[in-house]
Amino acid sequence: MSTEDASLYERLGKRPGIEQIAADIWDNHISNPLINNRYAASDPVEVKRLVTELCCAGFGGPEEYTGKDMISAHKGMNINETEFVAVCDDVLKALDTNNVGQREKDEILCILYSMKPEVVHL
Ligand code: HEM
Repeated sequence: MSTEDASLYERLGKRPGIEQIAADIWDNHISNPLINNRYAASDPVEVKRLVTELCCAGFGGPEEYTGKDMISAHKGMNINETEFVAVCDDVLKALDTNNVGQREKDEILCILYSMKPEVVHL
């Protein structure tokens, strides 16, 4: 299969690649003053596992996502636009850390942005 046809899951290095990206996203979140207070009571192992699963399943992998849907997960938090952009920036930074290509970064940013109504102002 050429790189053109490979799923986003495959292009990111399947589960091991995505696990590393999820770990770096977590590290970026907890050192980001715009949002780290949101994760004060979170279990890092659990959040990293769920983000890994969501990405694997959503990017074409065989994994099953076992967490809450995005509306249920974020309901009642009243997350604002600044926080949403901060999360997107942390994701892009983690993709850079892992030398992910521009095409993949563009695709992932589009996916994140498409989920905005399921996360913001709930
Ligand atoms: C498209 C963007 C986002 C995605 C894909 C996403 C994904 C997730 C996932 C998979 C979970 C775990 C759900 C579960 O517990 O079953 C979660 C929980 C959470 N998210 Fe998001 N999220 C996004 C944006 C945000 C934003 C902007 C914030 C605000 C800073 C945020 C804060 C949280 C918090 C505080 C939790 C709960 C963690 C816990 O249970 O300890 N998320 N998110």
